[in-house]
Amino acid sequence: MTITSAEYIVSSARVEQCPEGQMPEFAFIGRSNVGKSSLINMLTGRSGLAKTSATPGKTILINHFLINGQWHIVDLPGYGYAKRGQQQREELRRMITGYILRREQMMNLFLLIDARHEPQRIDLEFITWLGENGIPFSIVFTKADKLSKSKLAANVRTYLSRLSEEWEELPPHFVTSSETKQGKEELLSYIEEIINS
Ligand code: GTP
Ligand code: MG
Repeated sequence: MTITSAEYIVSSARVEQCPEGQMPEFAFIGRSNVGKSSLINMLTGRSGLAKTSATPGKTILINHFLINGQWHIVDLPGYGYAKRGQQQREELRRMITGYILRREQMMNLFLLIDARHEPQRIDLEFITWLGENGIPFSIVFTKADKLSKSKLAANVRTYLSRLSEEWEELPPHFVTSSETKQGKEELLSYIEEIINS
């Protein structure tokens, strides 16, 4: 799929405020600073579309972007950012889970995992929660450019084998870099397949 237009639509604090209508949408989630906003910019080819930052916790609302006038990309706030107060963390948690459980037009959730790290409990617990709630999701490893090819392959293998302890069938996975555009075609083809199915 070629993205010919991408525009910011709205930022919402609650799922009830998200755009109406039945356009299919694809959401991006993961720990704070994992590279969600950067990935969205890479996929759309629009560097300033989603706000990125070296400081974690940049995205604090549900952000909708309209793609090719036909479907939405959704940039969600990151989870697990320790420096937030208890109350704000709880608010964000409610915002995120409310969106995921109630947004019917969300066709797939892309869960981003930093390819550099060992499997982290917060992500594994989140994946279990997605499974328990029957949410369609796939795994996107990010920042692939920061590792050697062999280390990258080893980390991905480790992650998938950890998941297969719990999952009979593994979710689809993608290896990406917002720097080198690795994984762009694969992700966009996957989205296209789902839209056309
Ligand atoms: P929050 O909105 O705070 O939850 O963060 P986010 O997940 O949207 O992360 P963001 O895209 O803002 O990126 C965080 C930092 O990681 C920025 O400094 C990015 O430049 C950097 N980054 C993101 N993706 C990549 C990547 O693929 N490669 C490299 N080298 N750096 C990346
Ligand atoms: Mg962000």
